[in-house]
Amino acid sequence: MKGKVLITARSFRKIPGPHIDEWVREGYEILFPPYDRPLEAQELVEYIQDVDAAILGLDKVSREVLLKASRLRVISRYGVGVDNIDLEAATELGVIVTVTPGANSVAVAELTMALILALARKIPAHDRIVRSGKWNRLEGVEIMGGTLGIIGAGRIGQEVGIRARAFGMEILFTDPLPPPEEWIRATQAKSVSLEELLSESDIVTLHAPLNEGTQHLLDANRLSLMKPTAFLINTARGGLVDEKALFEFLRSGRIAGAAIDTFEVEPTDPSQFADLDHFISTPHIGSATYQTALRMGWLATQNALIALRGGRPEHVVNPQVFGRSSDGS
Ligand code: DGY
Repeated sequence: MKGKVLITARSFRKIPGPHIDEWVREGYEILFPPYDRPLEAQELVEYIQDVDAAILGLDKVSREVLLKASRLRVISRYGVGVDNIDLEAATELGVIVTVTPGANSVAVAELTMALILALARKIPAHDRIVRSGKWNRLEGVEIMGGTLGIIGAGRIGQEVGIRARAFGMEILFTDPLPPPEEWIRATQAKSVSLEELLSESDIVTLHAPLNEGTQHLLDANRLSLMKPTAFLINTARGGLVDEKALFEFLRSGRIAGAAIDTFEVEPTDPSQFADLDHFISTPHIGSATYQTALRMGWLATQNALIALRGGRPEHVVNPQVFGRSSDGS
């Protein structure tokens, strides 16, 4: 065997395809931990200490974990968020970290649209009504003509904008990096401040990364800018929203509804929102489609193999790692 690769990303293992065959062809032993959830620190250490590469899902990779991973050369994130990885420690220890941009954009955008429509037409509540043997109807709202505020107009935010525009929505966005002109032309999207976006949108959707600058980006002060008729969608990262404040806003009717795929702590404690009818939860399924698993699996595999061969993968998030000399200086 040429070496070992740890793969914690669950759909990588469950969906057969060229991403798995490639590791076998390249002569690597694959370690698939038997858990159907992100690994705890101790479990991760048990596996990572012995491998050359790791394709990881949402497992938390702390400095302590990395210090035990003496053979590790590359962490290939199966996804785009890197808030679960101590990047500073990885860089100091010479571990290359890569991501799979674009591979999950359609899946997350489609989930976002599904949640918007489910909130607008109260689909989960209607399902509960029918299952309980009743046949009453709740009033919904149309999204056509409404305003969608996109916080973070990167790849995923742009895919959401295109779909929402096709539904007849007006698009506002805020992002420190300007999106392509072509997207602005196609969606007629307007760049506004975060405050303006929150106060003018009928639906607010988050597509920003979680980092020190975006932690609780939507705190009680910012949530209070939203219209009482507005919905909030979060398919990005739980930490972007102060969840306790959000549940209070929903409870007191200061916003009309929310749909959350990503929680501050996962798995979340459902008792926090058990009483809320106008709230939809899903268990971080944004990327969980068959097509995305194949795309992310292939890209994550290529990123890792290029790094293992001594090359520089395209999607490195800690490029400083290449500036380091081998004596660690
Ligand atoms: C991402 O791409 O980071 C998604 O949340 C799935 O891991």
